[in-house]
Amino acid sequence: MAAAGSTLLSLAVAALAVSLLVSASEARHPTATPATPPPLPVLPIPSSSQLKWQRREVIMFFHFGMNTFTDSEWGTGTEDPSLFRPAALNATQWMDAARAAGASLVILVAKHHDGFCLWPSAYTAHSVRASPWRAGRGDVVAEFVNAARARGLDAGLYLSPWDRHDQRYGQEVAYNEYYEAQLHELLTGYGSVSEIWFDGAKGKNATNMTYHFQEWFQTVKQLQRSINIFSDDGPDVRWVGDEKGYAGTTCWSAVNRSAITIGEAGIEKYLNEGDPRGRDWVPPECDVSIRTGWFWHANETAKPLAQLLEIYYNSVGRNCVLLLNAPPNTTGLVEDADVARLREFGRAVEAIFGTDLAAGSVARASSERGGPGGGFEARNVLDGREDTYWAPTEEDGCRNGYWIELRRPAEAAGRPFEFNVVRIQEHVALGQRVERHAVYVDGAPVANGTTVGHKRLHRLPRPVAGRKVRVWITARRGPPLLSAVGLHHDPFVAAGAM
Ligand SMILES: *[C@@H]1O[C@H](CO)[C@@H](O)[C@H](O)[C@H]1NC(C)=O
Ligand SMILES: *[C@@H]1O[C@H](CO)[C@@H](O)[C@H](O)[C@H]1NC(C)=O
Ligand SMILES: *[C@@H]1O[C@H](CO)[C@@H](O)[C@H](O)[C@H]1NC(C)=O
Ligand SMILES: *[C@@H]1O[C@H](CO)[C@@H](O)[C@H](O)[C@H]1NC(C)=O
Ligand SMILES: *[C@@H]1O[C@H](CO)[C@@H](O)[C@H](O)[C@H]1NC(C)=O
Ligand SMILES: *[C@@H]1O[C@H](CO)[C@@H](O)[C@H](O)[C@H]1NC(C)=O
Ligand SMILES: *[C@@H]1O[C@H](CO)[C@@H](O)[C@H](O)[C@H]1NC(C)=O
Repeated sequence: MAAAGSTLLSLAVAALAVSLLVSASEARHPTATPATPPPLPVLPIPSSSQLKWQRREVIMFFHFGMNTFTDSEWGTGTEDPSLFRPAALNATQWMDAARAAGASLVILVAKHHDGFCLWPSAYTAHSVRASPWRAGRGDVVAEFVNAARARGLDAGLYLSPWDRHDQRYGQEVAYNEYYEAQLHELLTGYGSVSEIWFDGAKGKNATNMTYHFQEWFQTVKQLQRSINIFSDDGPDVRWVGDEKGYAGTTCWSAVNRSAITIGEAGIEKYLNEGDPRGRDWVPPECDVSIRTGWFWHANETAKPLAQLLEIYYNSVGRNCVLLLNAPPNTTGLVEDADVARLREFGRAVEAIFGTDLAAGSVARASSERGGPGGGFEARNVLDGREDTYWAPTEEDGCRNGYWIELRRPAEAAGRPFEFNVVRIQEHVALGQRVERHAVYVDGAPVANGTTVGHKRLHRLPRPVAGRKVRVWITARRGPPLLSAVGLHHDPFVAAGAM
């Protein structure tokens, strides 16, 4: 009884304390109105790792290995390890090249199709251990990830499934065991790995070999929680379907993974454009080399700046991440001319997008979810943040269509906007929605297109001037959520470069 009595008493005291607390907080916020919740997601939506990856926009690839020394793109697997002897390999120099290009993630080819391993794998003799480089005690993967971290960059790795050297290739169980063992080495020995690349490439005459992709993918996720897996069909990031670095003008982040077979021809268009009804969020990555080949060849040089910018508009500007390859040479350095081109590219992107000519303008829209103060106002597209966005009301759009407008403020009287690039971004954390859109300046159409996604860039053939810029969303999978609308001046637009 005594125990029960004291329990009742303490309950009563607790209830009194709670009611005091509640009335105290009511007193402090007598008229607080509840916030409007965000709209529901439209599935599929990205994982946190995929979102982080998407916002990187530019990442870099380093193809370096036996092919660098044999002047080839695809080795045979019979190369003598003694050929691998970079005289002055310096991975920090590679990182400085990546930073100059504006990249935040760097991916190293740890093993290409020739099977030569850039780290001293315990499971093969065909590696840097058998080379004269650093007297056989070197480890390019270790030097790469350490240099990346020292420069504040994240690291990723490429491990070719096709291996022309290993004798186990063609024996399904033995080879898959070998491959799994190497995944373990790479994903447990070098700290955090942000992306892993599974290339579907395979020679026409290669032995028929079934790769255990499902086992590999699950192993990768077990060993690295926040990694993104790249392959033709993801599961996290997909190939864009070409090696030019161009996405489709329509580019959905979603696909049906079940509709894709890794390494199979004929799926390029599907990969390039995605699927508006796709069930899986697997956004595309645009891989392209700054030179003709993936590996370094003395007879090749870097693409001109105009071409790199064209690639940027057709990848980053079409809802993709650009994976730009820079091949170190036989000395083990990225050529000075290539570093200079990467720096020129990084500076050009900064020159175009570092200034938003829409800053300071007045934003209004066809409607605002929750009204003024609701947190989803049109002006959110101007605040430079990815996590705030304009959202219309649910009823809007059924009537006249959705629009958002930027107007020069009164104090800028007489001075119109003048720009040749329009940037539109969706808040893709809640799904990719826009199916068709158009841009008008003072009522005249200047650009239109289909998808937007993380970022859509319209590069106009000549500058336009006007006081009002309006973006219409004319078709969509759900109410459009825009996190940014920006106006920029691109001084590099050359006649005919369109
Ligand atoms: C490696 O490259 C970096 C960046 O260019 C440079 O600062 C450093 O001195 C180089 N290290 C060696 C050993 O040459
Ligand atoms: C592939 O095999 C065909 C027929 O055996 C042969 O003619 C061709 O040279 C081979 N190609 C390569 C790249 O080995
Ligand atoms: C390769 O092997 C798989 C599984 O054994 C089989 O289904 C496929 O038809 C083979 N492909 C060729 C080209 O022989
Ligand atoms: C993808 O899956 C969705 C839902 O099942 C379906 O409506 C759509 O047609 C599929 N796309 C393709 C290309 O099969
Ligand atoms: C440069 O040389 C390599 C190897 O000899 C060759 O494969 C490649 O086609 C050449 N590149 C150009 C642009 O001629
Ligand atoms: C590799 O690039 C570095 C930096 O430009 C240069 O010093 C070196 O001579 C190059 N090596 C070769 C073989 O071209
Ligand atoms: C869309 O833009 C193209 C040129 O880029 C133009 O030919 C077409 O008329 C525009 N369509 C609309 C509906 O404005």
